[in-house]
Amino acid sequence: MSVILVTGGAGYIGSHTVIELVKAGYDAVIFDNFSNSKPAVLERINRITGKHIPFMAGDIRSREQLEAVFSTYKIDGVINFAGLKAVGESVKKPLEYYDNNVSGARTLLSVMREFKCYNFIFSSSATVYGEPDSVPLTEESPVKRANCPYGQTKVDIEYMCQELQKAVPEFSMVLLRYFNPVGAHESGLIGEDPRGIPNNLMPYLTQVAVGRLPYLNIFGNDYPTPDGTCVRDYIHVVDLAKGHVAALNHCLNKSGTFIYNLGTGVGYSVLDMVKAFSKAIGRELPYKFAPRRAGDVVQCYADPAKAQRELGWKALKTLDEMAADSYNWQKNNPNGYDD
Ligand code: NAD
Ligand code: WQD
Repeated sequence: MSVILVTGGAGYIGSHTVIELVKAGYDAVIFDNFSNSKPAVLERINRITGKHIPFMAGDIRSREQLEAVFSTYKIDGVINFAGLKAVGESVKKPLEYYDNNVSGARTLLSVMREFKCYNFIFSSSATVYGEPDSVPLTEESPVKRANCPYGQTKVDIEYMCQELQKAVPEFSMVLLRYFNPVGAHESGLIGEDPRGIPNNLMPYLTQVAVGRLPYLNIFGNDYPTPDGTCVRDYIHVVDLAKGHVAALNHCLNKSGTFIYNLGTGVGYSVLDMVKAFSKAIGRELPYKFAPRRAGDVVQCYADPAKAQRELGWKALKTLDEMAADSYNWQKNNPNGYDD
């Protein structure tokens, strides 16, 4: 079976994807520098899969470390999750974001070309659509200049992949635009473990639920949406992970650039999320309304029809499952992987 290198495989989405890859019969090799993850996740992945998944420590900006991986294993394809992802931090540290994300992806693609490994899947984001002109977003919706360095690294890497594919047509470039990944593996053994105070809604909710934070601040309740709070397409991380397997099954060894939205197609507001989460924990989750957060788009949700049509993939898990699984992970690991 094909061997897939999962760069950033110790992270939130990467760890869930390794499990689905192994379940689908792929061999995975994890490569990570632990800049935003902990080594403890590796043993948890092994526990869930019942296998020892090979791991090599390293940075995608290091040609030598990547060459060592490609020399050790016969890699058939790469899924690149390795990237920095905090919107606010990227505004303060733009060079670090371009270096880690864009230079890292560039070095990785260069080593892939050197080793004649032509199957690449990239973790892109709905952030490439900017403030949408209309929803739902299809893959044909315009890609816009991003409003933060993080988002712009996604736009730039997408273009770099497309240009390289034109120059080296053997490449199969798959650009997966994730909407808002939430939830955790049903075992409660792995999940999202952000450093410091979470920026994103779901980890903030889970930390309020276990008492690490007192209440949720809802950023803005005067948006032009049904209840005044912003609308997003939240997708269970296990569904998202399965989307990568479907993309590999479909695109492996094909020539071209393939772009897919990975979302559910349903938009939920922040208040909908609070309601679902309160149901999952069996009590009202405390929240307060706070001013709008700079840079937030009003509503963003996918038209996922292309992925269903071409990959045979569809997100199946409900909002209640997303909330219950997120809470289960946090309840079992109140301090994340430090427990
Ligand atoms: P994460 O931070 O949990 O995982 C990223 C992993 O990459 C971490 O384990 C980190 O240690 C590693 N890493 C970072 N830079 C590296 C480098 N230079 N070399 C080697 N390893 C490195 O993040 P995640 O939520 O799992 O996201 C994975 C990818 O998906 C990221 O590229 C992110 O931008 C993208 N994405 C995430 C979301 C989201 O909301 N979580 C949405 C859209 C896209
Ligand atoms: C969701 C909604 C907030 C926290 C970000 C990135 C995007 C992508 C996914 C990687 C918004 C509200 C949040 C809180 C709140 N990442 N909120 N109180 O902003 O849609 O997307 O993560 O590519 O690029 O921008 O996700 O979870 O931060 O926010 O009210 O404490 O929850 O205002 O409406 P977002 P999010």
